[in-house]
Amino acid sequence: MKVSKVAQSVEASVTMAVTARAKELKVQGVDVVSFGAGEPDFDTPEFIKQAAKQALDQGATKYSPAAGNMQLRQEISRKLKEENGLEYKPSQIAVTCGAKHAVYEAIHAVVDPGDEVLIPAPFWVSYPEMVNLVGGIPKTIPTGAETDYKLTPELLRGAITARSCLLILNYPNNPGGFCYSPDELAALGEVIAETDLAVISDEIYEKLIYGDMVFRSFAAVCPDLYERVITINGLSKAYSMTGWRVGYTAAPDDVAQAISRMQSHMTSGPATFCQLASIEALAKGQAEIEKMHAEFSKRAEHIYKRLNALDGVMCPRPTGAFYAFPNVASHYGRLKVAGSVAFCQRLLEEARVACVPGVGFGCDENIRMSFATSMEQIDKGIDRLAEFLNTAG
Ligand SMILES: Cc1ncc(COP(=O)(O)O)c(C=O)c1O
Repeated sequence: MKVSKVAQSVEASVTMAVTARAKELKVQGVDVVSFGAGEPDFDTPEFIKQAAKQALDQGATKYSPAAGNMQLRQEISRKLKEENGLEYKPSQIAVTCGAKHAVYEAIHAVVDPGDEVLIPAPFWVSYPEMVNLVGGIPKTIPTGAETDYKLTPELLRGAITARSCLLILNYPNNPGGFCYSPDELAALGEVIAETDLAVISDEIYEKLIYGDMVFRSFAAVCPDLYERVITINGLSKAYSMTGWRVGYTAAPDDVAQAISRMQSHMTSGPATFCQLASIEALAKGQAEIEKMHAEFSKRAEHIYKRLNALDGVMCPRPTGAFYAFPNVASHYGRLKVAGSVAFCQRLLEEARVACVPGVGFGCDENIRMSFATSMEQIDKGIDRLAEFLNTAG
């Protein structure tokens, strides 16, 4: 059968090969330490599960409105106002099948074929592919350790062309583990204000920030840009609800309506009982968020210190999300590996440690190490990494 050109152009994830091999080894009974997780290692809090069970018992088994349950949209509107200082009416909010589809619909709503989309590297693997799917042109903007892997006003200014229509910001960042401060966001906002760029601000890791870092929503820091910003968020990471598939977009009226229209033909609203449980999560989840946050915060500091104590490894301090993103490239020559994929393959085969190659995120000198795993596993894995770096030739 003919496969469409667009479908053919979608790249298989290079990161998946290492993850699949790690799983295979685990099934064979090999003791692999995995730093691959893209989801919290905690269970969904009990009161949220209870709310879903109750919703099912009360018959919440039918379609919800295409853009989501109205009570949930009201709760999201309250959350955005009280926690983020953002005014979005429920009609400006669409509840989506995970934040992933929220990002896809947001891109679809504003990008025409041939439009250029600016994506600072490191980036979440799905952004460029989503842009490709709608016929846009992803244009990645390289960054480096000098800026803690963050986009700066200068880098942004240098990347904008007449065809640029959208910038995708993600902070706290997957895989970079950094967060933009309000001042850094304001400085980027000044450059954006000189242009017609729209902005997608993917704030899915908002609740996971560490040390002195302060999280502020982009649209709240740059209110003059409000009409050009689509805010993305969801329940997956903050409430450990990755399998429930509840995310959302908050956008100016015209874009919000476009997203709702598209969603009515694509997925309709997410599972009704998941949406009802999400109302409970947003309304009463603060204590649970704090418990998980306290644990992640300890791990962030620990993994940072341990990684930087290794010879030839440079890791920026994780100030958000649950990822460390060390640069290990000083070892590539000695290990005779061409880049992060071969490095991760050898690390897995020889030291039984699974990490995600940075090349899929636009940074081939780095590897992504998720600390959504216990302290014991973190220590065991870093001991093995140290041994590998010291002895492998
Ligand atoms: C930056 C970023 N945005 C969006 C998502 C998607 O989240 P969800 O599981 O809600 O689809 C992820 C998940 O890994 C992510 O890392």
